[in-house]
Amino acid sequence: MVICRKKNVEIIWAVLESERMQMKSKARVPVEIALFAGTFALITPAVTATAQVAPNAQFRLALMPLPSSITQGEGALTVTPAGGGGSTFTYRYDLTHDARLEAAVKRALLRLGRTCGGDVLRSTIDHPAPANSSLTINVAKASEPLQTVNEDESYQLSVTPQGARLTAATDAGAMHGLETVLQLATNEHGACVLPVVTISDTPRFRWRGFMLDVVRHFEPVPVIERTLDGMAAAKLNVFHWHLSDDQGFRAESKKFPKLTGVASDGQFYTQDEMRAVVAYAGARGIRVVPEFDMPGHGTSWILAYPELSPDAQITQLPVVYGTPTAVLDPTRESTYKFINTLVEEMGRIFPDEYFHIGGDEVQGKAWLANPKVAEFMKKKGYTTPAQLQAYFNQRLEVILKKHDKKMIGWDEILDPALPKTIVIQSWRGEASLAEGARQSYQGILSAPYYLDGQKSSAQMFLADPVPSDTTLTADQQKLILGGEVCMWAEQLNPETVDSRVWPRTMAVAERFWSPQSDRDVSDMYRRLRINSLKLEDVGLRHISGPEVLRRNLVLERNPEALDVLASVLEPVSFHERYQGQHTNGLTTLDRLVDALVADPPSRQEIAGDVDALAGGVIVPPPADAKLSVDLSGDVPSGVTPPPEVALRRLRQRFLSWQAVEPRLLEDVQKTPRLSDAVTRVEQLGELAQVGLSALTYLQTHTAPPAGWEAQQMSILDRAEQPSVLVRFTFLHSMRKLVLAAAQTGTAASRL
Ligand code: ACM
Repeated sequence: MVICRKKNVEIIWAVLESERMQMKSKARVPVEIALFAGTFALITPAVTATAQVAPNAQFRLALMPLPSSITQGEGALTVTPAGGGGSTFTYRYDLTHDARLEAAVKRALLRLGRTCGGDVLRSTIDHPAPANSSLTINVAKASEPLQTVNEDESYQLSVTPQGARLTAATDAGAMHGLETVLQLATNEHGACVLPVVTISDTPRFRWRGFMLDVVRHFEPVPVIERTLDGMAAAKLNVFHWHLSDDQGFRAESKKFPKLTGVASDGQFYTQDEMRAVVAYAGARGIRVVPEFDMPGHGTSWILAYPELSPDAQITQLPVVYGTPTAVLDPTRESTYKFINTLVEEMGRIFPDEYFHIGGDEVQGKAWLANPKVAEFMKKKGYTTPAQLQAYFNQRLEVILKKHDKKMIGWDEILDPALPKTIVIQSWRGEASLAEGARQSYQGILSAPYYLDGQKSSAQMFLADPVPSDTTLTADQQKLILGGEVCMWAEQLNPETVDSRVWPRTMAVAERFWSPQSDRDVSDMYRRLRINSLKLEDVGLRHISGPEVLRRNLVLERNPEALDVLASVLEPVSFHERYQGQHTNGLTTLDRLVDALVADPPSRQEIAGDVDALAGGVIVPPPADAKLSVDLSGDVPSGVTPPPEVALRRLRQRFLSWQAVEPRLLEDVQKTPRLSDAVTRVEQLGELAQVGLSALTYLQTHTAPPAGWEAQQMSILDRAEQPSVLVRFTFLHSMRKLVLAAAQTGTAASRL
């Protein structure tokens, strides 16, 4: 697959002057070099020969995920004319369309109307199906009632000044194409337009999932729905719904009403709600795979039905997180009868061909400690709990098959006794995925995509289910169906879930959809920033949610000062927070850490500006590897501006930190929930001073006095220490700046 991009010379979003100059100067170089030179990536050399650089291409696109093939032309199709006059945008269908596609088109036009200005949708309805419609949709055949993992999701889109044509084999493909149309919409001299483009797009992986744990914290249906809308925008196609775990059972069973009656704290989905979610997802081209985790993580099951356990001692749902030892009893026939009934019931609510049985972290000790189970194992000749789990899974697989379900489970279920129809979801590392494939099992990768690890978008984007240096054979590679982003819910709630999931999930969605060669992190971030804003229009609240939380934190006071601090902080990883807070089911999630987003833009913005002044400076790795990890070193700077611009912006930024410090000190004093943030507030002021003095030395070409560098580094060392579950986003860049200032007057100085 190949990405062919023409360079543009007009920047639609706020892009730096210097970048504009860079782009102009490169506009006529051969495409391979221009693409490599910084803005775009993705060249498969053998097939790039046809790409042409249009010297006057007007638009810089921000499609995400990147299409597998794209050629940009000149001009644009007008959606809404300049001056806000009435839109004449119309659409029609060639061939067939069904109610699902019609609903998807209406939703897309509603969003296009919001982007372009009011009346796109109304105009469409007012002018039914003229032959020269703005958008012609051609779908080969109506969809099968049930989308499968083999759905053809490809589409072709061509936009000319006269009209756009979207062609797809299925509704699902057409819906992906509609998302691309929405991402194309942009402004040109006051008009809202779709740039001229020819796209042929098909996903790299068939299984592009997102898993949400709704057990550790429950998420109401509206949260699920907006998550599905975000998934559709990112072209993800599997919602993996983690519905049962130790801390609760969240799916209503009419056959076993105590599952939610006793073991949900009243927080569960009714069957009607689950059916509605399945329909909502299906309408957006998303399959829903439910997970009922067994035989481990079974405390909720056993609290409700103690007979499922070899030695039930459970009297309440656990408040603590971790791995309780509750396991189902695999030796009793009644356990399989129970599971059979549950699978039959849930299988009707969740029509997907796959059924997730969990299978992770089974604590075999409980089995070994029980004489009856131990006796059973002896009779069967099993010496390890893993063998007993394999027996359990074989029994389970027969049950699933009876109900027309295929088994998917976490990587612990891998066992040669199971049929090759099962899918292994690898959470313990890439190695287990490869191991499954070598044994001819299909698999999906999740290990690098655990959002609560608080890794950067870049780190997750670069992790590939099938990397270019894979040791798998071509046939084994075909067994890798794709991957899933995972969001575990110990440390989030409905107010914070969006900011944990988005926009980082969009970066991984691109990994699952776009060609393997798509590895230009800087351009990924450029497009991610733009699409992050668009995701709020889809209904997500990853930006506005934390803003509201910060307003709540300072109550009637103006949150502006807190916003400045928050812009350069991010949450620490799950494990660091867990160690620092001993998070459990009673922990309130209403602190500064909860009002932040992961991997905020500040990291890259500051890195870009610092690189303009100190690009060649190498920062040695921190002496103490256990320190709160600052990811700056892993995230490439975005656009590198001219040094004068960088200097001005950095100075303004550091001055703004200084300016808010007194106000922040008042905030933390007056706000009990912020009181422990005082260290970070004081550090922000100190770091502002570090930055300002470094800039002064750089600008005046004055060498700092002896001991200055060591003093600044010790301030940075302290700022790197854990505090209040949050970490700064720019310490690596600040070290670079200090080192550059310390070398003032030497070759490293750029000013
Ligand atoms: C898992 O994270 N235990 C699947």
